[in-house]
Amino acid sequence: MDDVLQAEEEAILSNVRSRLALFEKDRSRLIPILQMIQETHAYLPAAAFGIVADFLGISECDVYGVATFYNQFRFNPPGRNPIKVCLGTACHVRGGDIILENFERRLEISEGETTRDREFSIERVACVGCCAIAPVAVIGETVHGSMAPSKVESLILRVQLEKEREERSQAKNESTQ
Ligand code: FES
Repeated sequence: MDDVLQAEEEAILSNVRSRLALFEKDRSRLIPILQMIQETHAYLPAAAFGIVADFLGISECDVYGVATFYNQFRFNPPGRNPIKVCLGTACHVRGGDIILENFERRLEISEGETTRDREFSIERVACVGCCAIAPVAVIGETVHGSMAPSKVESLILRVQLEKEREERSQAKNESTQ
């Protein structure tokens, strides 16, 4: 884990410790506690399991088992450009799983993971309500319909170019100040 990620995770854990005081020390509070962590930090860091387990007096294994049973929880920080690939019925029938595979191959991560530079994460989602333009992928807030494997590369490149453009203009602004 790099230093930045480690510092972020330590800040998250210290926040989790302080917010646990709001909950009763009762096993029935496990899911609300996990939901609170995810709502606040967008994912459940593995190191939080031990803290929650100690607080509730249960095993870390129990916490992990519950967290992985529900697919509402994610275990990696989301990327700056989260990619959601729809695998609802209409998208699935029109090859949504092939689109997912192409994003995974291109970014060298699996669904549920985040790239090392934290730029991209991939997750599969249920119907996003645009079945007429299936298969659909959502990058950030933008919906991309009629997805095809050949579009995957250009969408990733577009995001990367946009980032480079922003960095250049930021550097230019800083140099003129
Ligand atoms: S199934 Fe994908 S948008 Fe509805």
